[in-house]
Amino acid sequence: MKKTVFSGMRPTGKLHLGHLVGALHNWLALQEQHQCIFCIVDWHALMGEYEQSEQIRENVLEMAIDWIACGIDPERSIIYVQSEVPEHLELQMILSCITPLGWLERNPTYKEQLREIKTRDLQTYGFLGYPVLQAADILLYRANAVPIGEDQLPHLELTREISRRFNHIFKTDYFEDCEAILTQTPRLMGLDGRKMSKSYQNAINLSDDPEEIGKKVKTMITDPERVRLKDPGHPDVCNVYSYYQVFAPQQVKEVYNWCTGAQKGCTECKSILAGHLADTLRDVSAKRRELTGDRDRIRDILSDGRDKARQIAAQTIAEIKEIVFP
Ligand code: TRP
Ligand code: SF4
Repeated sequence: MKKTVFSGMRPTGKLHLGHLVGALHNWLALQEQHQCIFCIVDWHALMGEYEQSEQIRENVLEMAIDWIACGIDPERSIIYVQSEVPEHLELQMILSCITPLGWLERNPTYKEQLREIKTRDLQTYGFLGYPVLQAADILLYRANAVPIGEDQLPHLELTREISRRFNHIFKTDYFEDCEAILTQTPRLMGLDGRKMSKSYQNAINLSDDPEEIGKKVKTMITDPERVRLKDPGHPDVCNVYSYYQVFAPQQVKEVYNWCTGAQKGCTECKSILAGHLADTLRDVSAKRRELTGDRDRIRDILSDGRDKARQIAAQTIAEIKEIVFP
């Protein structure tokens, strides 16, 4: 059965390899079979970055370029910008009327972010409502499937709870439960072994050229017990090895042998990996360059996506208003 798939990403900066294997590969597979709607969620970005909002517009265009360069196909999938479809906010308003405060205050992601993020003031009304807007995103298209990372599971659970509460309060069966589609690939760690993230400056970006990739890979942490070439290594604790598993599965066995058999050193092992990464990104880079030079085309794609998204969204809102104000 053809499903409606919805997902969103915040335009907060350059996309990196973590996004590629964590999200985009999943999206590419889904767009082969389903109606996919991919949304650049700039309102969600504003909730966290309202103090540097001047960067968001540029990030939106860069994100569209990255997505299309990776193979998201605007002929098949709807690609658009959240703030260009005002119905998101209408539905958020309706849903916020029925969402108990306690659900939002107990949300583990919310509590963690308030605890962890010290550089920005997130004690706002808008940020508390982050998951309500996310629920509105998904429910506006009555999506059945939502590809996300594990960190987003609490938000999806809230979406289900909000939609059930809507059905209950307004005595309807308008919304069906949506399911998460989790990525199968293990999470890619950053150069330093922590989660790959722009803010940790440990990411390889989709826009990096082979030279940049080589430089970055050189800094990767390897098996700390392997100091000299003749020390046998332990690939299972080495981040470089986990990159081979994702980007060069055909060579994993060989790497295991040269590492444990102390036949190749880490420097050589890394430079071979850098070659694989450059190969992986070669087509993406070429497409990126082409699209970067053709901003008008990107704007056309986004406005076409907006029109398609709005058509569905306007219909949903009309139906919801009938239910809420019968
Ligand atoms: N909160 C998501 C994230 O940070 C982004 C997002 C917003 C989203 N709306 C969505 C994801 C709807 C899936 C569906 O990754
Ligand atoms: Fe890691 Fe390769 Fe060095 Fe082994 S040889 S420790 S896999 S970088």
